[in-house]
Amino acid sequence: MSLLLHTPVCEVLGIRHPVMQAGMACAANGRLAAAVAEAGGLGTIGSNPGWVSADEQIDAVRHEVRLARSLTDKPISLNIPIVYKRADELLEIAREERVPVVSLTAGNPDKLIPRAHEYGLKVISVVGSLSQALRVEASGVDVIVVEGTEAGGLNHPDGISILALLPKITAAVRTPIAAAGGFADGRGLAAGLCLGAQAVQLGTRFLASEECHVHDAYKRLIVEAGPTGTFLVWKGKHFPTRALRTPYAEKIQQLEQSGTSKEEVAALIVEASEHATQMLGDLEAGTFTAGMSSYLVDDVLPAGEIVRRVVEEAVAVLGQTSSYVVDSETPVAVR
Ligand SMILES: Cc1cc2nc3c(=O)[nH]c(=O)nc-3n(C[C@H](O)[C@H](O)[C@H](O)COP(=O)(O)O)c2cc1C
Repeated sequence: MSLLLHTPVCEVLGIRHPVMQAGMACAANGRLAAAVAEAGGLGTIGSNPGWVSADEQIDAVRHEVRLARSLTDKPISLNIPIVYKRADELLEIAREERVPVVSLTAGNPDKLIPRAHEYGLKVISVVGSLSQALRVEASGVDVIVVEGTEAGGLNHPDGISILALLPKITAAVRTPIAAAGGFADGRGLAAGLCLGAQAVQLGTRFLASEECHVHDAYKRLIVEAGPTGTFLVWKGKHFPTRALRTPYAEKIQQLEQSGTSKEEVAALIVEASEHATQMLGDLEAGTFTAGMSSYLVDDVLPAGEIVRRVVEEAVAVLGQTSSYVVDSETPVAVR
């Protein structure tokens, strides 16, 4: 008998497995989202696939959505940072191109939720604190992604680990929850379920996938990352960002620590340089965002294989773990 993990998050989103691929601005392309969706997870397209200019962004997103749609008819999602001034247009793309799920992030989702629901879309909201979780639950989101400080990309300033944050939030809200930050394998999925989540969202693990279109140098940095391979940079921005420890990122950290003003450090963030970094592999041009789970990622795999391994391992781990629960009358050797 083959076993399946099917949870309320799967029910709400219409997916087979409780594994979600994160929306990662430039990195989450249509081919990646489609491969994850075909394997039974939720694939997500990022808000700036390929780091194009603001003018080209809407067309680039539509292109990636259409590409994904040509490769799969399974549910996919579109990530929409609310602070982005063309967020409304991204929501229209979701409606027009039959994307059934949107994940709203980086800002207050209140305004977009009613319209998304009017369009018949399911809404995911990404939070980094209990107060944000309570607020988005009151706004009626369908799934909450709780993100700990282990996560790659923008971090909540509280800087709290998923181990402490997740149980706090799952105890306080009734909306189905997915955990994010530090999850890369089936042991992580099993742990997330034990902490009260009903799915996990993986970003860094899917960066190191065959279908992800970022530069190979980026994937290599993830595979080679050691225990201190990521840290928080860009503290001068509104939110700190978890990035790989490259000489460039360390230079930014030194500037921040040497008293350089927040504005001067923030001014170093140039869209073009992130493009050169993440898509072209120029190590000196910008930061490579990734999470602590880089330490767990040892190879570049097909995205569908990642989904399959995560689920199989979680089923095995949960079976093993539940075998530790025995009848209290069972004779046990205790000295
Ligand atoms: C390269 C990169 C870019 C990201 N960009 C976004 C984004 O545009 N929107 C968003 O909601 N989250 C973004 N994130 C965060 C992810 O959605 C996800 O929650 C996070 O990667 C989970 O942690 P993990 O990297 O340890 O798996 C990004 C993460 C990475 C690694």
